[in-house]
Amino acid sequence: MTTLQLLGVLLLTAASAKGQSYHLGRCPESTVQEDFNAAKYMGTWYEIEKLPAWFQTGRCAQATYSLLSDGTVSVRNENILSDGTVASIQGTARVIDPSQPANLGVSFFKGVPDAPYMVVSTDYQSYALVYSCSDYFGLFYIDFAWILARSRALTDDIINQLHDKLTAIGVDVNRLKVSNQTACDGYSQ
Ligand SMILES: *[C@@H]1O[C@H](CO)[C@@H](O)[C@H](O)[C@H]1NC(C)=O
Repeated sequence: MTTLQLLGVLLLTAASAKGQSYHLGRCPESTVQEDFNAAKYMGTWYEIEKLPAWFQTGRCAQATYSLLSDGTVSVRNENILSDGTVASIQGTARVIDPSQPANLGVSFFKGVPDAPYMVVSTDYQSYALVYSCSDYFGLFYIDFAWILARSRALTDDIINQLHDKLTAIGVDVNRLKVSNQTACDGYSQ
């Protein structure tokens, strides 16, 4: 077994142990937001629903994006842990191919390959739907999804529309987990 295969097995084991989102086969095709405008996407987004991700567990989860002068994006993810402390992680996002501006890569650790970050749909001022999918050896894939909003809640109407978009990609929306955005007072920026 090569190191890469071993890593795959470990990832798969970690994923299944956490009830994560791995599937046999290859990542599904997804449409992305047309004419994506990164500048309009910057600022704070609150996490409304997600496909379970083991690196985001607390409540009041939010992400803040800022455009840097070199064209990359600084990413700050924060949430409140069960003991009340604020956890945050800083990363960098960048457009990999300028002809596909809605397809970003995000990295939180130096030396670790970028994770895909695909803006499927956004109106920039109320909601955003993000999908991330990685293929492993052409055998299986692990995917993540986030429904984000400019405030800590979204209308059922918009949530249903975004669920429909995820269903169209092939994501089982029953796997989505509602993020806890209560008791965030005094923490909100
Ligand atoms: C959300 O978090 C608050 C504060 O910890 C807690 O009181 C509440 O029960 C949580 N809600 C859900 C649905 O888990």
